Amino acid sequence: MKKSIKFILTGVLALAGMTARADEGMWLPSLISQRIVDMQEKGFKLSAEDIYSINQASLKDAVVLFGRGCTGELISPEGLLLTNHHCGYSQIQQHSSVEHDYLKDGFWAMSREEELPNKGLTVSFLERMDDVTEYVLKGYTPDMTEEQRVELVKKNSQALIEEATKEGNGLRATVEALYYGNQYFLFLYREYADVRLVGAPPSSIGKFGGDTDNWMWPRHTGDFSMFRIYADKDNNPAPYSKDNVPYKPKKYFHISTKGVQEGDFTFIYGFPGSTKEYIHSEGVRYIEEIGDPHKINLRTLRLDIMNKYQSQSQKVRIQYSSKNANVSNAWKKWQGEVKGIKKMKTVQTKQEFEKAFDRWAKGGEFDGVIGKLAALYAELEPYQFATDYYAETVRTVEVANVAMSVARLFLSGHEDGLVTFDQEKAKELLDAFYKDWYLPIDKESFVAVMNEYEKNVPADFKPSYYKEKLASYGSIEAWAEDMFTNSIFIDQAKAEALTAADKDAVMNDPAVEFFNEFLKWYATDIQPVTTRINRELDLAYRDYMRGQMVYCRTQRVPKAFYPDANLTLRVAYGHIKGYSPADGTYYLPSSTIKGIMEKDNPEIFDYNIPQRLRDIYAAKDYGRWADATGEVPVCFIATNHTTGGNSGSPVINADGDLIGLNFDRVWEGTMSDIVFDPEICRNIALDVRYVLFTIEKIGGASYLFDEMTFAE
Ligand code: ARG
Ligand code: GLU
Repeated sequence: MKKSIKFILTGVLALAGMTARADEGMWLPSLISQRIVDMQEKGFKLSAEDIYSINQASLKDAVVLFGRGCTGELISPEGLLLTNHHCGYSQIQQHSSVEHDYLKDGFWAMSREEELPNKGLTVSFLERMDDVTEYVLKGYTPDMTEEQRVELVKKNSQALIEEATKEGNGLRATVEALYYGNQYFLFLYREYADVRLVGAPPSSIGKFGGDTDNWMWPRHTGDFSMFRIYADKDNNPAPYSKDNVPYKPKKYFHISTKGVQEGDFTFIYGFPGSTKEYIHSEGVRYIEEIGDPHKINLRTLRLDIMNKYQSQSQKVRIQYSSKNANVSNAWKKWQGEVKGIKKMKTVQTKQEFEKAFDRWAKGGEFDGVIGKLAALYAELEPYQFATDYYAETVRTVEVANVAMSVARLFLSGHEDGLVTFDQEKAKELLDAFYKDWYLPIDKESFVAVMNEYEKNVPADFKPSYYKEKLASYGSIEAWAEDMFTNSIFIDQAKAEALTAADKDAVMNDPAVEFFNEFLKWYATDIQPVTTRINRELDLAYRDYMRGQMVYCRTQRVPKAFYPDANLTLRVAYGHIKGYSPADGTYYLPSSTIKGIMEKDNPEIFDYNIPQRLRDIYAAKDYGRWADATGEVPVCFIATNHTTGGNSGSPVINADGDLIGLNFDRVWEGTMSDIVFDPEICRNIALDVRYVLFTIEKIGGASYLFDEMTFAE
């Protein structure tokens, strides 16, 4: 069986090289030699070894996983790193206070001493990646159940990880499944934990356009921030210390200020998080018709409530700015995704493919897999629906969340019957909570989402606790009234005065009870079933994935096969290109500072730019950052296939130099996590010249240019 997988993969990839649809795909860097000819035909001037090598410094050594879900890149021999403003957001916020509001005013270290350490922030360099399929499946026999296989994979992976990291030194390893477990790779990272904030523009630049412009083109957001990696004297990872020195990278990006033109080759090197390009039509139908629409509706209700109160009070606006951005980000993406799936007729296209596949599969290895997947999805649907509702209703009640977290700090079961309570930890949790909590928002949201829950979730999929409680209250409104009047947790002073003696009171608190009863129901009635079905789905998908490859190869169906994104390093390549979002409209591929001025409006928070930028514009004081038209370039779009996690990824030109910083996708193309349309799908990047312009003209920190290399 192993041999056949390898054979299929090689065969299919060779075919994919000839027939892959333009620009779709997130490719494994260690296998990039299979794509390099195509890349070079499209304009790339470097070699596969320049992209990924374990024998010499290569571009991969200049790319890092930033934190737990973004990408960053090295831009100087002294550890200077570039990523998005929204990726460094929580660090920038952490250092901000009323006196030093770095979110509002921006921050620039004027010397190394002024750079700010960030507890908990790490960056990881990929040392190497290796196909370990053979080792991971050692001992596997076809008569094993999926549970046994999962156990075996876990055990073998653990052994590999231990072996790979035994020398210590900040090495971190993971084993990841690709193609639904048809292939396994070991990823070995070197993780640095002393990463300091060097600079960030004011939010009015770094978050310009806010959630109004989020996921949209044309765009004018200066979404960047800068950090520096520190290491011990031997350039090895070390926890924060005053004695640490700037990290010396094996490789860093040279910066091209030559500018970009429609048609130019671009390549994105980064850590895309998650895609589902090969799923069955029923999986897509659920997302399009059920999952996304319900989740969108629930979030619309919450956002309306947040927006109402945020527009009434400056204080509430700040308290809910980050929460609002988080809720709104996926909310807006899902809407684009649904529209895109509909427009592409993805369900129908997949059904036709599945019909043909099924006919072809009769009597062979893949016979019945289509029907199996359909049956599993039918079984999963009500459980998935209940899970989605639970996640977007009960689990979004803020006071219930914090109440449960505090309840968990009571520990009993000691032999002497003693109860302990970590008061310090509780205070920490509660302080952070009350700082950004506004009761009327939480209460109104509770009423809004729980009424939807009542209306839309079938009785069989509701906990009996809920049904009894609702019957005794008579309405969701009455329930809210009780919880938001009588819970200990609506009162900061009371909550912060809790001691070990209050365990019973806390366990019977209406907010704790609400959260806890749902939690127990989910753990017993829902999760075991979804886990079981998902295991069976994994098994069926493993076959279907291989089946799709064999089918497309033997039937000469042109289709690109690349492993779904899983937060491992990938290469996506394409070119700079505009698009037509709708009939009669065409969007150009780049934006300039002129567009910022057109949007500028002191009355609207998202569009109120710094006065300094207005003055610069009026005086046309652009220094060397104007383009051929005399304006400062701001953003551009390209056909690279990206997803969440690619934020902060370097955008690289044909010569391997840095021309921009990825930060978003266009709204009409957000279905690309499921289906990619080369006509519409575009990633959005910040032009590196706007980064440099902002550092110099707004930040007054052009001393940083001295350590950069410009590829003129
Ligand atoms: N849409 C971008 C991404 O998916 C940017 C998100 C941050 N900005 C925001 N307004 N929430 O993550
Ligand atoms: N903003 C996203 C991120 O944080 C990238 C946009 C996308 O989903 O493509 O990774």
